[in-house]
Amino acid sequence: MILDVAPDRLPDTYMAEAPSNLDRETAKTLLQSEIYGPVISPSDVSVLHHRIIDPKALNGSATLEEWRVEAGYGGASRPLDVVLVRPNNVPDAPVIISQNFCPNHAVIPLEGVTAPGESGFCEGGGLLGHVFGFFFGRYIVTPPLQDIIDRGYAIAAIYPSQFIPDSGRDGDDVLDSLFERTDRPGALSAWAGLSDLVADLIEDRHGDRPFIAYGHSRFGKTALLSAAWFDSIDAAIAHQSGTLGASRLADGTGEPLSALVGSYPHWGNRKLRRYADTPARLPVEAKDLLAAISPKPVLLGNARRDTWSDPFGAFVAAQAAWGDAFGATEPGDFRPEDRYAFWQRPGTHGVVKEDWPAFLDWLDANMK
Ligand code: GCU
Repeated sequence: MILDVAPDRLPDTYMAEAPSNLDRETAKTLLQSEIYGPVISPSDVSVLHHRIIDPKALNGSATLEEWRVEAGYGGASRPLDVVLVRPNNVPDAPVIISQNFCPNHAVIPLEGVTAPGESGFCEGGGLLGHVFGFFFGRYIVTPPLQDIIDRGYAIAAIYPSQFIPDSGRDGDDVLDSLFERTDRPGALSAWAGLSDLVADLIEDRHGDRPFIAYGHSRFGKTALLSAAWFDSIDAAIAHQSGTLGASRLADGTGEPLSALVGSYPHWGNRKLRRYADTPARLPVEAKDLLAAISPKPVLLGNARRDTWSDPFGAFVAAQAAWGDAFGATEPGDFRPEDRYAFWQRPGTHGVVKEDWPAFLDWLDANMK
């Protein structure tokens, strides 16, 4: 069934999803062997430098700092810049680890953040920047930093493409050079491991605190993987994560696996390519990924017209994964106080002004 607008109610005709019959360990083994490759974080991490850029950023309310690390898995290594903005009046603030489409200086546009050079639409200016913001929302590049700080959260930003380029050929080449093994991770699982790296860096310097993996779309997929695999990650906000994220794979709705594998062959492991036209043959499903995160809290963000990301597919996967612990009765039934929550707003793919207040309300109820 193809729907171009997902109403707030689940249509009666929509296929329910049965709970999985896989135990967690089997499911995680299959998710890695058939889809993502090993979900691991870098074993060799050297901090090349750390600096406080501004102890009184955002009108004195926050400290802005930055790390440059070099990381690898026992062989070649790659650079990664990590930026952190933390509230000055909340020393143990939970940290939202945000993986982003744009380099850090565009995500955290504060004086002094290292800029890698021209990054097109990410700069926010120019025709391209306006068109991008118009279609994908005000917060697609830069989150509402002051609101996040005022609500008592820190935010860390990384640009995963700095580490593994997000393109079929370059991504594959870099992954091959980093791993030198045939069962290597795809880009999604290697990027997920970067959230673990960031949590460790921050914990080493500032002490332990809750860490929340946050991401939109492809980085919603990595947020779910991070929370499912790493003890350092305490919760996930996966916004519009779609295929290979929260949405059911084998139902013919949303982005077809064949389209994803065709456009982004480097995201999964090599074996996934064999299932491109036959996702129903996969022995593991989106509900298994969601179930593997519990009991950590998860918020799934969605939009009614974003049928490529398949909100209904995410809703039925959540029902199957979490059973009665998932309280929402319909996609429009947002319950910010719930450990497993579903947020669906009107509109399309992107991060718009209603999204962050919903994320922060859910965090307040679940992380404080
Ligand atoms: C493409 C891709 C999706 C992905 C999205 C995004 O549309 O097909 O799987 O989620 O990009 O990351 O914005």
